[in-house]
Amino acid sequence: MEIESMQDDAVDILIIEHEEVTALFEQFRGLSARSKDSKKRISEDICAALSVHALLEQDIFYPAAKTALKEADLIAEAIVEHASALELMERIRQMEPENELFDATVKVLWDQVTRHAREEEEKMFPRLRKSKLDLVALGARMLEYRRVLETGPGRIPAPAGAAGDPSLA
Ligand SMILES: [Fe+2]
Ligand SMILES: [Fe+2]
Repeated sequence: MEIESMQDDAVDILIIEHEEVTALFEQFRGLSARSKDSKKRISEDICAALSVHALLEQDIFYPAAKTALKEADLIAEAIVEHASALELMERIRQMEPENELFDATVKVLWDQVTRHAREEEEKMFPRLRKSKLDLVALGARMLEYRRVLETGPGRIPAPAGAAGDPSLA
């Protein structure tokens, strides 16, 4: 889906990213035990997509949500969960797919990320939709920031699977 042309708001953008990451995890799960190279490659795609997503939330979305909702606890919890996911991702990046803990580490990351994303979608996002926060303007800022993250210095490359998606170019 072409994100920009739809004028999606910040919440739509984050939900689409949740779905993209879920699809990558499902791709990983569908690989046979012998597909070590593909496992490594898809795990890298997962980590790249999650890194960009986490930064969009932490640097742009959460600060705005914190002000709009006045629910510092909810945001603080989300930030701690991000830190935990980043640690697991770092471990996965350093790990060879032959490592007997590789699949399990990806699985634990998936479990954590799924729970975290569900909390966002069921608690944080609906409350924000009811708030006065301008989610369309926030979404535009997030897309701009994502462009910088994916193309600027020290860039985080877009997942290979998304290479044909013009919204990620
Ligand atoms: Fe998050
Ligand atoms: Fe999220």
